Formats: sequence, C-alpha cells, structure tokens
Amino acid sequence: MKKFFKVLGTALGIVVLAVVGFVVWVQARGIPSYEKPPTPTMAVAATPERLEMGRSLVLASCTDCHLNKQTNRLSGQQMLDVPQEFGKLYSANITQDKDHGIGNWTDGEVITLLRTGIGRDGRYRIIMPHFVHMSDEDVNSIVAFLRSDHSWVKADPAPTHAQEPSLLVKALANTVMKPTPMPTQPVVAPVATDQLAYGRYLIVGRYQCYDCHSKDFKTNNALEPEKSEGYLGGGNHFLDANGKDIVSRNLTGDPETGIGHWNAGDFSKAVKFGMSPNGPLRAPMPKYSTMSDEDAAAIFAYLQTIPKIKNATPEDQGTVAVK
Ligand code: HEC
Ligand code: HEC
Repeated sequence: MKKFFKVLGTALGIVVLAVVGFVVWVQARGIPSYEKPPTPTMAVAATPERLEMGRSLVLASCTDCHLNKQTNRLSGQQMLDVPQEFGKLYSANITQDKDHGIGNWTDGEVITLLRTGIGRDGRYRIIMPHFVHMSDEDVNSIVAFLRSDHSWVKADPAPTHAQEPSLLVKALANTVMKPTPMPTQPVVAPVATDQLAYGRYLIVGRYQCYDCHSKDFKTNNALEPEKSEGYLGGGNHFLDANGKDIVSRNLTGDPETGIGHWNAGDFSKAVKFGMSPNGPLRAPMPKYSTMSDEDAAAIFAYLQTIPKIKNATPEDQGTVAVK
C-alpha cells in the first residue's frame, strides 16, 4: 500500500510539473512567430471586376471585424463577440496608413497573411481567419479593393490596440492554431454551372460558412474542412451584442434540427437578409446582402448533399424567440 501511494505521489508530481512547465513555456512564448513563408512578388492589377467583387467580399468577410463604426473605416476595434475565455482581442487597422495600417505591406505580404495567418513581421495573427481555399481571383479582388480609393480603406492614423490574449489563446496558438501553408498550385473556383462543386466552394472557400457553423473553432480542419468535427452541424459559440452566449445553427439537412424542411427561398432570405423561418438572425451571423440568389441556391443545393447531423441548437429547443 505504502509503495502504491509513493508511486501515485510521484506520478502526480510529474503531472503537476508538466502542467506548470507547459504554462511557463506558453507564457514565455506568447503568440509565436514563424519564418516568413514564400511571398508572391507580383502586384495585383485593379480591374473594375475585381474592385466590385472585392467590395462585396470585404463587406461579407472583413467589415464585421475590421470596420470601426465611429470612423467608418477599416481601422479596427475591440472584438466584443469573442468569448471572455479568449481575453481581450482587437482587430487591426487595415487602412492604407503607412505607419499604423497596411499601406507599407506589399500585395504579396497581404496575400500571405490571408492564406497563412502569418504577418509581414512573422508574428502569427490570432482570430483572423485564414482563407485557405479561396480562389486566387477572389483573394486578388480583396487586395485590389484594399488598395482602392473607397472610403473604408482611406488612411487612418489610429494605431492597432495591442492584443491581450488569455493563457488559453496563447496555449491554442502554440498547439492547435497553426499557420496554414501557402498554396503551391493555382487555386481556381469551380464554374457556377457545376452547382454542387460551386456551392461547396462558396461554403469552404469564399465565405467559410463551415468555420462558424461546425462544432468548435478548436476542432475545425482548415486544410480539409469536411473533416471538421460536426461539419456544418452548428454548435460553435459566440457572444451577442449584449454579451450573451449565441450558438451557430445546424445547416445540414436533418429535418428536425437542421434545415431539411426549408426551401431555397427560405434559405436565401436567411442568408442575405438575416430573416430565418426561426426569426431574425443576430450578429455574428453576417448579412450576405450582395450575394446573388443563384449563389444562395448553389449553397442550399450543396447542403442537401452533406451528411445529416442531429444537433439541436437553442432555436430548436424553443429558447430563442420565434416570430
Ligand atoms: C473574426 C474577425 C476577423 C475577420 C472576419 C477578419 N479579420 Fe483581419 N484581423 C482580425 C484580428 C483580430 C487581427 C489582429 C490579430 C493580431 O494582431 O494577432 C486581424 C489582422 C489582420 C491583418 C494584419 C494587420 C496587421 O497590421 O497586423 C490584415 C491585413 C487583415 N486582418 C485583413 C483582413 C481581411 C482583408 C479580411 C477579410 C477578407 C479580414 N481581415 C477578416 C480579425 C478578423
Ligand atoms: C461569423 C460566424 C458566422 C459565419 C461566417 C456564418 N454564420 Fe450563419 N449563423 C451564425 C450564427 C451565430 C447564427 C445564429 C444566429 C442567431 O441565433 O440569431 C447563424 C445562423 C444562420 C442561419 C439560420 C439557421 C436557422 O436554423 O435559423 C443560416 C441559414 C446561416 N447562418 C447560414 C450561413 C451561411 C450560408 C453562411 C456562409 C455564406 C454563414 N451562415 C456564415 C454564424 C455565422
């Protein structure tokens, strides 16, 4: 018996030491830096098509985090919908200011960040999504827009607030949240007439709906999105405007807890205008107001083909007001 306790004591001691060691290591490392990945050297040409597409993509995928409502510029703000366990995080100033925005970044450096999560100084950017499967054309459109004379991107001298990540975020940034590699091949979107492939592209490439709509950011698989736990079955947690928990919803075809009983019109209204058959949708669900009905229909068609998941989220349990 005595020997048993001795062994147990030693084992516990080792575990405690390992945990303390890990915490010290994570605190010391903070948010890690990486060697700068191979960075494209070509400047992006601004065509009218790219500027229009770029505005639509930035509206859909960047403004919710980067647009400062006071200045109406992409000058950054505190991320209030990030759960407290992550600490206090701030989106960056991505206006054209040379000192505090990205006016001094090359187009290639912006592309590298969007693809990998690694900034021009090598530091890993936290919370900022990685656009791994977005087509080169869409990425170029975003860059062209960031360089345009639109009022959102006009130089704003406000410095980006320093990040105040929690120990959890530091631990995640040193373990599961990793940079993603630069694509080694051109990334080309499927043609819109190939409806299912195109719908999948919109979900995993252009808009990354799967990132919010799968079970948890921590178990999402950026390289192979379909391998994310609970792929598109909802359940990921955010905070709403009042700091209350808000849960992403099940987009699979399960008739009870998913959207199996919806039609393409219901879906389009929910995605474009935030009007779901379950009532008005709240942030952080973006309003994809510039999405075409054809694109919404392609996403809807693709969603019918993925494995159904039974996962009830609050609106299924009657805990969200249904109008
Ligand atoms: C979920 C919120 C979120 C979304 C969506 C988002 N970003 Fe960010 N972004 C951040 C945060 C937070 C940072 C700062 C991270 C850090 O410093 O570690 C950041 C940093 C950046 C930076 C680096 C700037 C610098 O000086 O370090 C660029 C460039 C950028 N974002 C561009 C974009 C673009 C373009 C889009 C849309 C395609 C976008 N972001 C979408 C949250 C977001
Ligand atoms: C930043 C995270 C985020 C992104 C990105 C996102 N969603 Fe959502 N979505 C949510 C949240 C959170 C809700 C729940 C809102 C609520 O409870 O009011 C939601 C709700 C919905 C609903 C309503 C479902 C129902 O049962 O009422 C649909 C449909 C939907 N999202 C589709 C999409 C599609 C399609 C995309 C990509 C084009 C997308 N979402 C991208 C977070 C997100």
